[in-house]
Amino acid sequence: MDKKREQLAFYEMDIVKDMMGLMGGRALRGIMSNFFTSRIYAGKVGLFLVKNYLEATIEKGERRALIITDAFTERFAGNVTKYLDLMQMDYKIWSGAEPEAPLNTIEEGVKICEEFKPKVLIAIGGGSVMDTAKAAWVLYEKPDVELESLSPFDELGLRAKAKLICIPTTTGTGSEVTKAIVIRDDETGRKFATMNPELTPDIAILDPEFVVGLPKELTAYTGMDALTHAIEGYVSVWKNDFSDGSSLQAVKMVFEWLPKSIEDLTDLEAREKMLVAACLAGMSFGNSQAALAHSLGHSMGSVLRTHHGLSVGMALPYTIEFNCTECEETAAQYSELAGLIGIREKDDVATSMKFAEAIRELMVKIGSPTSFKEAGVKKKDFKAGLEKLVEFAMMDSSLTMNPRNTDSNELRKLYEYMFDGKKIDF
Ligand SMILES: NC(=O)c1ccc[n+]([C@@H]2O[C@H](COP(=O)([O-])OP(=O)(O)OC[C@H]3O[C@@H](n4cnc5c(N)ncnc54)[C@H](O)[C@@H]3O)[C@@H](O)[C@H]2O)c1
Ligand SMILES: [Fe+2]
Repeated sequence: MDKKREQLAFYEMDIVKDMMGLMGGRALRGIMSNFFTSRIYAGKVGLFLVKNYLEATIEKGERRALIITDAFTERFAGNVTKYLDLMQMDYKIWSGAEPEAPLNTIEEGVKICEEFKPKVLIAIGGGSVMDTAKAAWVLYEKPDVELESLSPFDELGLRAKAKLICIPTTTGTGSEVTKAIVIRDDETGRKFATMNPELTPDIAILDPEFVVGLPKELTAYTGMDALTHAIEGYVSVWKNDFSDGSSLQAVKMVFEWLPKSIEDLTDLEAREKMLVAACLAGMSFGNSQAALAHSLGHSMGSVLRTHHGLSVGMALPYTIEFNCTECEETAAQYSELAGLIGIREKDDVATSMKFAEAIRELMVKIGSPTSFKEAGVKKKDFKAGLEKLVEFAMMDSSLTMNPRNTDSNELRKLYEYMFDGKKIDF
């Protein structure tokens, strides 16, 4: 608990405690309904518009861009550099980002920024690349910032040195529009999320050219991440009317377009729609926060190294079953979402349960595992990691945003049910 307190220092502030009614939660609504997003260009013309924007905002002799990618997404850099060439922008490509944004790679990124002094950082990649770029950018701008203890209420004064542009190459995280960064601490192996409104990128470009070749598995997993953001954003204690609107459209779009983008990997319309759905889901949870499925999922990523979308997606239906029986208002919210896909049972709890089932059916259809067993996690590895899973999930900031209060015994039970694929009955 001490560690959790340390990490969530800002939750100790009386005003925040009051707002959250630790954890009655509802008090938070209405008090804080800020809404932050990047400027979004969706479609093929985005890169051209960004060229105009950079030309207008960066002086001629100062035009230096650092393109941040990983070893795979480096191949997309040429799609961007052709526009930079047109405006005689000096650029460097750094492809050192790694899955789950480990701290040591972020430090490497900062060094390159300090040497090259870019006026704009352009991240091309999935959530890991975008989070690496966001974190390196913060430390380039403000070397004294401690990422883990950033609060959403700090005034950082970013953007004195550079702007940040994000181009997603996966269709799930929404990091291109969020104020969040998820980082892996190399020493402990723990993933932690940190957030501040100023971390919201300046521009997000949603261009299907960057996701057209996304393989089936990643399409499925990242699509489940988007669905989890949309649903958790709709029930989190920090939800608000702005995030609600984004969630409603994102849930509708994921149910319609995710199966299509898996059935036909060349369906460009489905790809484009999933890019938009993931971005809308990011706009939702980025302004309302993720909840229990993300606490469980971050911990799975830390301990078992499972993909983020696979992890949170697997946890999602269990958390719906867990939350809906204890929180009347939350059951009504799940019911509203279920109504979008034509589900209506005798009451809100039954409807929520059916909704959880429909999500599992979607996962089966797209090939995303619904239990640890299905994901191929061995019982002995699960047992060996269980206490760490629980410990890290307890420390995760998303837990504070869940509508149902919980403890380590329940988290342990949730994981055990998830191992076997058993519906939650407690
Ligand atoms: N900051 C936020 O708001 C936020 C939100 C959700 C998730 N996240 C974080 O994002 C990370 C997950 O990101 P992700 O799911 O996008 O995956 P990722 O960025 O970790 O990429 C996974 C793998 O897919 C490859 N890849 C990327 N684009 C590809 C493409 N078009 N075709 C083929 N392969 C491609 C990458 O090279 C990598 O090997 C996690 O660390 C998660 O915690 C952050
Ligand atoms: Fe996520």
